[in-house]
Amino acid sequence: MIETIRWDGECLWILDQTKLPFQVVYRKCTDVLSTADSIRSMQVRGAPAIGVTAAFGMVLAARTAIEQKKEIVASLKNAADLLIGTRPTAVNLAWAVKTMLTVVENKIEDVLAQLENKALEIYDADIQSCKRIGKYGSSLLPANATVLTHCNAGALATAGYGTALGVIRSAVEEGKHIRVFVDETRPFLQGARLTAWELSQENIETILIADNMAAYFMSRNEIDAVVVGADRIAANGDTANKIGTYSVALAAKTHGIPFYVAAPWTTVDLGISSGEYIPIEERSPEEISHLQGIPIAAPGVKIRNPAFDVTPAEYITAIITDFGIAEYPYNKSLKKINDLIETELKKRCR
Ligand code: MRU
Repeated sequence: MIETIRWDGECLWILDQTKLPFQVVYRKCTDVLSTADSIRSMQVRGAPAIGVTAAFGMVLAARTAIEQKKEIVASLKNAADLLIGTRPTAVNLAWAVKTMLTVVENKIEDVLAQLENKALEIYDADIQSCKRIGKYGSSLLPANATVLTHCNAGALATAGYGTALGVIRSAVEEGKHIRVFVDETRPFLQGARLTAWELSQENIETILIADNMAAYFMSRNEIDAVVVGADRIAANGDTANKIGTYSVALAAKTHGIPFYVAAPWTTVDLGISSGEYIPIEERSPEEISHLQGIPIAAPGVKIRNPAFDVTPAEYITAIITDFGIAEYPYNKSLKKINDLIETELKKRCR
């Protein structure tokens, strides 16, 4: 399996996704600053992967605080603000950082080891969640299907296995014949560079298309289902994901094609009632005006570059989580899953 993130007991190693697919290079993060930089610059990206990375960033911040004899709780609160500020849309990042903070708030003894254990737990749990999503999601795909995906919601976007690509992986593992149409995903090209690379590593049949071709192939009955990931899912099911996802959902609805969102429970934000409260990151204009450093736009033109959009819940056929499949209306179905999780947690605490 592709190793997106590696913790060697001292440092964090990030597979630098800005260099893929042409170079497989790992970047070493030795402190919270370099960790935050790797997230901001999208060397590591994808909601679950940046959450896991930030968790290890908190371990590195704690080690620095201990070495420099600084007050640990205050230092970790600063580190938390730094990490959460790197990318605002994916709620997994804030979730992971807050989970790490609870360790220092509750446990003062042997804090570094406790933090390291918690980060490793978040890492392992992410892979297990993806595998569960894969199993649930695979049940929705026919034995022979052409699936369209947008962006990269694969092993590269998680600690391993992937969410949307986890569904595809799982279906292939079960012997289903799956072909994947991959949107190139302007402007950062996660589809062309990352998803196409990741799927080809596993010999899964892949067809790369430009973003503006998705509706064309849908209109010709060439797509059976859409599966995408998510950065944040509001209580009513509105879902933020990579810019362009909303257009894919609109086209899928028009053509009667099921549109599935696959995401771990850590992406669900029941604290916000709808997608209008999801903060949308705007990134640098150079991502639009340049391609791999080469200028491609009229010099000086005004540019907008929102990194995500929100697909309204009514366009989503089902949300595939690691705790089961939710269907519209999501206020009810997501709450039901949440109640199940809470009951399970209470049982474990007894
Ligand atoms: O800007 P990115 O590449 O971090 O955006 C990633 C996505 O939008 C993914 O679809 C999402 O994070 C889900 S990853 C399992």
